[in-house]
Amino acid sequence: MAQHHQKVVLVGDGAVGSSYAFALAQQGIAEELVIVDVAKERTQGDALDLEDATPWTFNKQIRSGEYSDAADADLVVITAGAPQKPGETRLDLVDKNLKIMQSIITPLMASGFDGIILVAANPVDILTMAAQRFSGLPKNRVFGSGTSLDTARLRVALGHKFGVAPADVNAYILGEHGDSEFANFDEATIGGRPILDWAKEAGLSEQDLEDILYKTAHKAYDIINLKGATFYGIGTALARITRAIFRDEKAVLPVGAYMDGQYGLRDVYIGTPAVIGANGVEMVIETTLSAREQARFDKSAQTLQEVANDGFA
Ligand code: NAD
Ligand code: LAC
Repeated sequence: MAQHHQKVVLVGDGAVGSSYAFALAQQGIAEELVIVDVAKERTQGDALDLEDATPWTFNKQIRSGEYSDAADADLVVITAGAPQKPGETRLDLVDKNLKIMQSIITPLMASGFDGIILVAANPVDILTMAAQRFSGLPKNRVFGSGTSLDTARLRVALGHKFGVAPADVNAYILGEHGDSEFANFDEATIGGRPILDWAKEAGLSEQDLEDILYKTAHKAYDIINLKGATFYGIGTALARITRAIFRDEKAVLPVGAYMDGQYGLRDVYIGTPAVIGANGVEMVIETTLSAREQARFDKSAQTLQEVANDGFA
C-alpha cells in the first residue's frame, strides 16, 4: 500500500514561518512543504534556499505555492501577521491580524482544504478562534500554538534553576499566550517529585517562583527589545506539534485548544496540555488546579473572551 503523502502548507514566510520551515527540513518532518505569502519572491527564495539543505538532511519537496495547493494538504500552519513592535502587547495586534486571518481563510477554504489548521500568529488564542469560526472546520482540527513556547520558557528557567534537563521538567504554562498566563506550580513535578519540594530544597520562596513566572511571561518582550522578534523557539515548537500530528504520536503537548467545559471554561481557545495526534487535539488534559490557579485560569479566559467579543464573536 502506498504510504500517505504528508503535506504542509505554510502561510506566512516571515521570521516565524521560515524558522518553522527550517526546523521541518532539519528534522525530516513532512514530505512536502508549500510556502505561501503575499511576499511571493521571498517564498521563492526561501524554497530554493531550503532545498539546498535537503541533501544533508532529509529528502523533501519544498516549493513556493498558492492557496490552491492546500486542496490536498494535511496541515496548514498560519504564521502570517504583523509581529509586535517594542512596547506593543500581543493583544494590540488583534485588529490588523484578524483582517489578515480572514484574507487567508477565505481562499484556503475555497481550495477545498479539509485538514488541520495550526495557528501561531498573534494574538494566537483569538486568531485560532477566528480561524475556526471563519473556516467552519471541526474544533479539534483547528488549534493554536497556545502556551507551547511559554511552557518551553518555563522549563528552561526551572531546569537551569534546579540543574536538570528542561525536557524533564513536567510543568506547564496555562492560559492566554500573553500577559495573563500562569504556571501550574502547585501540580508541577520533576522526576515525580513536586516542584514545590525542589523549590523548598533550593531555598526558593513563593515569591521567587512568581518571579520566575513573571520572567517567563515577559521573555518575549526581552527578546524583542534585543533583536526585534522571536522565532527559533516558536519555529521549533510548531515543528514538534507537526511531528505529533503526522506520526499520530498521541503526544502530550501544551497547545491552544478549544475548551468545552474543561476547567469550567467554555467557548474559548486557550493554553492547556492536550493529546495531539492525527486528528489534531484528541483530548484536553484537565488536571485539578489549586483554587488560586483556577482563579487565574478564569481571569485569563475572561480576558480572551472580552477581546474575542469585541473583535468578531
Ligand atoms: P514577520 O513580519 O517576519 O512575518 C510575517 C509574514 O506574514 C510576512 O512575510 C508577511 O508578508 C506575511 N503576511 C502578511 N500578511 C499576509 C497575508 N494577508 N497573507 C499571507 N502572508 C501575509 O513576522 P514574524 O516575526 O514571522 O511573526 C509572525 C506572527 O507570529 C506575528 O503575529 C507574531 O506576533 C507571531 N508570533 C507568535 C509566537 C507564538 O508563540 N505563537 C511567537 C513569535 C511570533
Ligand atoms: C513570543 C511571541 C512574541 O515570543 O508571542 O512569545
